[in-house]
Amino acid sequence: MDNRPIGVMDSGIGGLTAVKALQQQLPNESIEFVGDQARLPYGVRSSEEIQLFSTQIAQFLLHRDIKLLIIACNTATAAALPYLQNSLPIPVIGVIEPGSEAALRLPAHKVIGVIGTKKTIEDQAYSDTIHRLDSSVKVIGLACQEFVTLVEDDLAGSQQAQEEVADKLTFFDGQNVDVLILGCTHFPLLEDEISNVMGTRVPLIDAGAATIRNVEDLLVRKNMLAQPNKGTAHFYTTGNPEKFNEVASKWLNNEHLKIEKIELGD
Ligand code: DGL
Repeated sequence: MDNRPIGVMDSGIGGLTAVKALQQQLPNESIEFVGDQARLPYGVRSSEEIQLFSTQIAQFLLHRDIKLLIIACNTATAAALPYLQNSLPIPVIGVIEPGSEAALRLPAHKVIGVIGTKKTIEDQAYSDTIHRLDSSVKVIGLACQEFVTLVEDDLAGSQQAQEEVADKLTFFDGQNVDVLILGCTHFPLLEDEISNVMGTRVPLIDAGAATIRNVEDLLVRKNMLAQPNKGTAHFYTTGNPEKFNEVASKWLNNEHLKIEKIELGD
């Protein structure tokens, strides 16, 4: 048993998709979440910058005595996962491998679509991972960096979001994708808009949520689950806590989130 909290990090609100799944699937676990909204988006930054920012967040969370770190950001997973795994004294889990495995577990997965940030798609983070697991699959990636802004600006559910998503995803017309991986943790907040365009025939994979299964396996294996109790959650943002609260309280269905502003770096 280990009652220390789990650390979860993202560039912003997107990592809350992993938090929601964590609270549903492992309700005894306490959570310390950092969203680096002041320095978002990560999807247009260099690997070096993302490694530096991720290290600063990890150090902050280590001071909060976390037992495990979830990088609930595909872009940071691609840029910093091995680096953090090698440099931190606790287990670190990213979202790309669990998201890929979840897609490959589906009965139909010959053609896998992936949407993500500019960097995740340009670095071919998903196609490399998927092809390592199954080289026979066709992977079609599309960078949708603008979707991050829609979510951060609390526009999910709006007409504008639906139009922008529809416009962008026409790219997949006629490509016959069997499944679409939401390879950015912000995108599940646009799930309705995305599935309105892709149709109900195409399952959507929430990579952040898929990761929680791996988290549970690891905690069980290492005998690190928290004791039965009600897990707590603390949220930290480098940006504006009110803005964070607007989206977070709706997404997590909780009007009483504990949100604090923090400074990281210079
Ligand atoms: N939520 C992040 C991801 O999963 C990144 C969004 C961004 O900051 O560009 O890739």
